[in-house]
Amino acid sequence: MDKKIVLSGIRPTGQLHLGNYLGALSNFVKMQNEGNYDSYYFIADLHALTTNPDPKELHTNVRHILAEYLAAGLDPEKSTIFVQSDIPEVSEMYLLLNMHVGIGELMRTAAFKDKARKALGITAPTQGDDDEDVAKEIIGASTNKRVNAGLLTYPTLMAVDILIQRADFVPVGKDQEQHLELTRRFARRFNSFYKTEYFKEPQNFNFGSAPVKVPGLDGSGKMGKSEGNCIYLVDDEKTIRKKVMRAVTDGGPTEPNMPMAEPVQNLFTILKLVGTPDKVQFFTEAYNNCSIRYGDLKKEIAEDIVAMTTPIRERILDIENDDAYLHRVLEMGAERARARAGKTLADVREIMGITKF
Ligand code: TRP
Repeated sequence: MDKKIVLSGIRPTGQLHLGNYLGALSNFVKMQNEGNYDSYYFIADLHALTTNPDPKELHTNVRHILAEYLAAGLDPEKSTIFVQSDIPEVSEMYLLLNMHVGIGELMRTAAFKDKARKALGITAPTQGDDDEDVAKEIIGASTNKRVNAGLLTYPTLMAVDILIQRADFVPVGKDQEQHLELTRRFARRFNSFYKTEYFKEPQNFNFGSAPVKVPGLDGSGKMGKSEGNCIYLVDDEKTIRKKVMRAVTDGGPTEPNMPMAEPVQNLFTILKLVGTPDKVQFFTEAYNNCSIRYGDLKKEIAEDIVAMTTPIRERILDIENDDAYLHRVLEMGAERARARAGKTLADVREIMGITKF
């Protein structure tokens, strides 16, 4: 009963790729199966609304992520798996918490500035991280471009996801650390305003080791859906082989023990994640003595990825169309998540003075 609570969510904006799987999902599954935590994994469909998706596409994406969660091994008997919008308590507490959130601090959030600039069609300053350009544009814009209020209050909603379940640990990547920091700040502010110790401050969690960063196949940076450099869990074998064979490399080592260029390093990083240590050693030696053939390295990587993702893909395709099963999973998840959220919301209302006569 006293297990610590772990909670994390994914925005349903597309299908999951190998980076999502190795960096996040596979760890969710590991933690679930180790059984030391009470885990909550959800699909943040309300957060997806901040970028105004096509309604049909949004629904399909929720289905994809849910099927991918389950296919990767999240078990509705062991974890609470739910869709954010199935928990109406979240929306109510979002309204309440917003009363203690400053517009300025939200406007200074890196993710907000990024998205606001995109929405307004302005480019980021090349030097420093000046927020004035965004602020001026938002307030003074005489165009019909607009930054919606939901985008601004994205961190409030995320804080509510976390605080309403009283989560202890929130496994998230670097790009979400600032949001988690805001969550802690909002919790402290709420506690101090109402002179209570009600909320605890949630911590990031990286599974006892350095976070796994999966590089992309285009030579630089990490695997991400916007970069077109990624392998999706639902990619079939042919697609995977084609993508890996097209990965960027260089002209090959010209002298023994040369340092590796970034694109080649990236391929080795992927091999380490999907292949066996003896293959890593084999290709490292081949690189160092200049006998390496990148084609062979890529073939190895492609086959290792295929071996890793094929069983998952097959399960995704099965689960994805099983409406009755998906419905059952979400009903169960919503019931558990709502029970916990309802308790928190009742406490918060009471603390804030919204009480019945
Ligand atoms: N903002 C997160 C992302 O884009 C998704 C998310 C929403 C989340 N609510 C959360 C993650 C609560 C962890 C906890 O990745």
